[in-house]
Amino acid sequence: MKSNWILILLGGMLLAMIADTIGTRQELLFVPVKHDAADCWTGAGANQIPVDEKGALIRYGRNLIENTAYYLGPNGNVKHISNGMNCQNCHLEAGTKPWGNNFGAVAANHPKFGERSGTIISIEKRVNDCFERSLNGLALDSNSKEMRAIVSYVKWLGSDIPKGTKPKGSGIMQLRYMNRAADPVKGKTVYTTTCERCHGKNGQGQMSPINITYTYPPLWGEHSYNNGAGLYRLSRFAGYVKNNMPNPQNYHTPQLTDEEAWDVAAFVNTQPRPAFDVSKDWPNTKKKPFDHPFGPYGDELSAVQHKYGPWR
Ligand code: HEC
Ligand code: HEC
Repeated sequence: MKSNWILILLGGMLLAMIADTIGTRQELLFVPVKHDAADCWTGAGANQIPVDEKGALIRYGRNLIENTAYYLGPNGNVKHISNGMNCQNCHLEAGTKPWGNNFGAVAANHPKFGERSGTIISIEKRVNDCFERSLNGLALDSNSKEMRAIVSYVKWLGSDIPKGTKPKGSGIMQLRYMNRAADPVKGKTVYTTTCERCHGKNGQGQMSPINITYTYPPLWGEHSYNNGAGLYRLSRFAGYVKNNMPNPQNYHTPQLTDEEAWDVAAFVNTQPRPAFDVSKDWPNTKKKPFDHPFGPYGDELSAVQHKYGPWR
């Protein structure tokens, strides 16, 4: 009699364990692995976010990426810590778009050693880098609801990517180098014919009528990203613009040639913008990217050549 009870008890525990494993598996499978026709990673959409407490935080994170200024901009309703741009202005479609500077590889590759800071960087630190540089603002407290939400969203988006790998189409595409320097004068022509109608004669962009966020974000001037931001490097700007601008564009049918993308990058990144203290960046000069326009360098090339090329 007694042993029967033990059997029943054990059986129950086994069933509970099986149910639990199935439960976890379903949770993992909740984010479908999506790829486009050319096998590039595409992030899951808002309608796939689970409808529970965890999902609510993830959904708030996605909102913060899309509507950063609404919450955290100069007229934001949570805090005023950024310049009025949205994360999504540069991480398109809430960080889900192939070659649209998406977040596909973030969860699988953090924490990691970051050469720019010379320290181990967490997702929180990487997000704050963009707050301080791309949004020319202030860092969020790691324990704030906003930071927890952004990190939950980024982790959820990348939860199907194996640790240490980068899916095809994640981040920004590296374009082929030209065998000449990128040319701001040629770039100005590209700008006036292809970009100015939205981003404005002085790169100032255009505020939406309700004055909270931009209809067309600024490309230079006091409300734009500062010179410590990723886009200030020509390769990041050129790769981003080639596959995404004039908005909306995708990498299947780009409108700009590689040369036009490099040249317009040189023009825009020659215009005035807020300054950031970059003196402690890239402490190991050997790891400095070829297009980082501030010395000291581990080679004899000038700062001008580092900024505009030609690079080999
Ligand atoms: C002005 C453009 C711009 C804005 C706005 C911006 N970022 Fe970024 N972000 C970049 C660039 C450029 C990179 C570097 C991409 C690279 O090197 O390939 C980057 C990188 C990142 C990364 C690391 C990506 C990776 O694959 O390792 C994260 C995470 C990130 N940004 C989060 C954010 C968040 C959150 C916001 C809003 C608070 C934001 N960014 C706003 C341009 C921007
Ligand atoms: C039809 C309007 C339009 C045109 C033309 C256009 N853009 Fe944009 N651009 C946008 C919009 C809108 C965004 C923000 C996208 C979003 O939030 O989804 C953007 C974002 C950007 C960004 C990242 C955010 C920032 O402000 O730094 C850069 C860089 C950029 N555009 C460069 C260019 C360049 C260079 C050209 C010309 C080759 C160009 N754009 C042409 C509308 C346009």
